[in-house]
Amino acid sequence: MRDTVLKITPPEYMLMRTYIEEHCGIHLEQDKEYLIESRLSDLAAESGCRSFQEFHLKARTDYTGRLKERIIDAITTNETFWFRDKSLWDYLEQAAVPELIEKITRTGKARIWSSAVSTGQEIYSLMMLLDRTLQERGLTSFLNRFEIFASDISSAALETAMAGRYDAIAMDRGLSPDKRERYFTVHGRHWEFDPDLRRRVRFKKFNLQNSFLCFTPFDLILCRYVSIYFSAPFKRKLFSKMASVLTPGGVLVLGATESLREFSSDFDISYFNSAVINTRK
Ligand SMILES: C[S@@+](CC[C@H](N)C(=O)[O-])C[C@H]1O[C@@H](n2cnc3c(N)ncnc32)[C@H](O)[C@@H]1O
Repeated sequence: MRDTVLKITPPEYMLMRTYIEEHCGIHLEQDKEYLIESRLSDLAAESGCRSFQEFHLKARTDYTGRLKERIIDAITTNETFWFRDKSLWDYLEQAAVPELIEKITRTGKARIWSSAVSTGQEIYSLMMLLDRTLQERGLTSFLNRFEIFASDISSAALETAMAGRYDAIAMDRGLSPDKRERYFTVHGRHWEFDPDLRRRVRFKKFNLQNSFLCFTPFDLILCRYVSIYFSAPFKRKLFSKMASVLTPGGVLVLGATESLREFSSDFDISYFNSAVINTRK
């Protein structure tokens, strides 16, 4: 770690924020210079750059894609924890998962996508919920009928998600002792998530700016605490693409501080306690 941060000038800030928005959609407001300084100074220094102008040039001319990947890893906020937002998990447990099970009995499968999965807590929380619900109903074989995808733009976050290995700090955030006991094993200073449930999730590095034409429709999409970082035009585009890959009646859930109200008319909006449920029309 450097002792001092590299200072960014106003023209350099313009260059860097344009680069970042172009490559991951994150829209930095006028007053976020400190974010670039604090998150990218080390990387700039490590790359041998003495100014952000030099660093920007280096990033633009790095044809390996490796520097871009590291900038994205450093600039994205990967904050997440187990069973984030109680109302949402009540909704998933009491309404969404039972509906997905019912759909499987009718059509044979149900498809779920966690589209900004970060280090994996969101999708593994869902795996624990699915596992417990199916056990309680004597329907464990239905687990094979769920097709579960998880993606993120950050390679570093995705690596942790795919490994399913968490330190004590991560384990302390939102996980009850009985779930820790039932779904994790200790390996030295880490806890590893149940390998059978882990293997059922198909992970992929995916930028939400990309085309969604590669996807077949989903029944449930989690797109949580990521659109807060995007501009209004990108949110409009993103929610339209989300609508295009949801089955009619499929559900899109956002973070508790996010809303698609001003950005999309493709959804009916309802509430489950304080959770907002966006159902594809
Ligand atoms: C704050 S975390 C949210 C994690 C999780 N969904 C939750 O609610 O706990 C936001 C995640 O969005 C990812 N992200 C940011 N921009 C993205 C983009 N353009 N495409 C895909 N993922 C992106 C970040 O890498 C980060 O892991």
